[in-house]
Amino acid sequence: MRVKNFFEVAGSSQPSPLGKWQCAYYFDAEFSYLEQIVPTKNVVILTDENVFGLHTKKFSGYRVIQISAGEQYKNQQTVDHIIGELIKLEADKNTFLVGVGGGVITDITGYVAAVYMRGIAFGLVPASILAMVDAAIGGKNGIDVGVYKNMVGTIRQPNFIFYDYSFLQTLPVDEWVNGFAEIIKHACIKDALLFSVLERYSLHDFRTDETLIADLIEKNVAIKSAIVMQDEFEEGDRKLLNFGHTIGHAIENLCRLPHGHAVSIGMAAACNLSEQLSGLHFEDAKRVVLLLSKYHLPVDIEADHEKVFEILKMDKKRLADKMNFILLNKIGNAAIYPIALNELHHHLKEIL
Ligand code: GLY
Repeated sequence: MRVKNFFEVAGSSQPSPLGKWQCAYYFDAEFSYLEQIVPTKNVVILTDENVFGLHTKKFSGYRVIQISAGEQYKNQQTVDHIIGELIKLEADKNTFLVGVGGGVITDITGYVAAVYMRGIAFGLVPASILAMVDAAIGGKNGIDVGVYKNMVGTIRQPNFIFYDYSFLQTLPVDEWVNGFAEIIKHACIKDALLFSVLERYSLHDFRTDETLIADLIEKNVAIKSAIVMQDEFEEGDRKLLNFGHTIGHAIENLCRLPHGHAVSIGMAAACNLSEQLSGLHFEDAKRVVLLLSKYHLPVDIEADHEKVFEILKMDKKRLADKMNFILLNKIGNAAIYPIALNELHHHLKEIL
């Protein structure tokens, strides 16, 4: 096991100017080590029925709240249920909420921990690729409201993120595919070298080589952590992490797609738009589409463009009649472009 603090992971030699980063990363850790970090009597674990069913033994001795698995349960009703359970367990300000699961669990854990008794400590044990490289990092939490993804939430950092790679042994292939969308996103926006590594290897290589996948996860954790450390509240560079997510979020709940699939289609659309807009000299949409396809991700969908536009307008990145859209200058180099809503409306049919 390797323990690192946030600054080390983010590649910074000195504490962030924000001065409030206490998040510890435990890499290549065994779940049983959790009891060394927080006294078991203070812990309440939040997980979903799938993770609980597959890893029941790991949870022995802990108080556990289980919720139904799936994005459709990432809502206020589930939050009310969890809070009811915390009250039944007489959880107090010393209670430490530990979310064990994929992105839905990490998002809800952070949110409940932020609001229960006006805030309790929390840690995350991401159990999917997507949660390990993305959802567990950065402090954004929240829930959906109908088709609107992550409409309600806060930004609040976990006390620790705990990587037990044994969870990946039971991860369905579809979930591996889902997670690679965010990995390809990191390569597209920040790291051309990572992009070529992904071109060289295959999903099968990563699924069958423990060292290769551990290195890939830690590389992606570093990319995301470095961005978050510089811009926790998404006033600048952190917006780049939304590459593929503007259209992705609009189609995710509308078309009932897994998050990674929606983001993949969103990235392909954003690459098409990057090629179409004059002023940008992006020429690699095909290369990105090829890489997404290589990792079994979809790159287009039959969608009702008007409905997509209606949802897209409510995206948190909209400011008045402009959308801050993330486009690529080249692979490994993204930028924020404000695009007028009517121009976006016009392009939507061609890019999606
Ligand atoms: N929790 C995901 C993020 O902060 O981006």
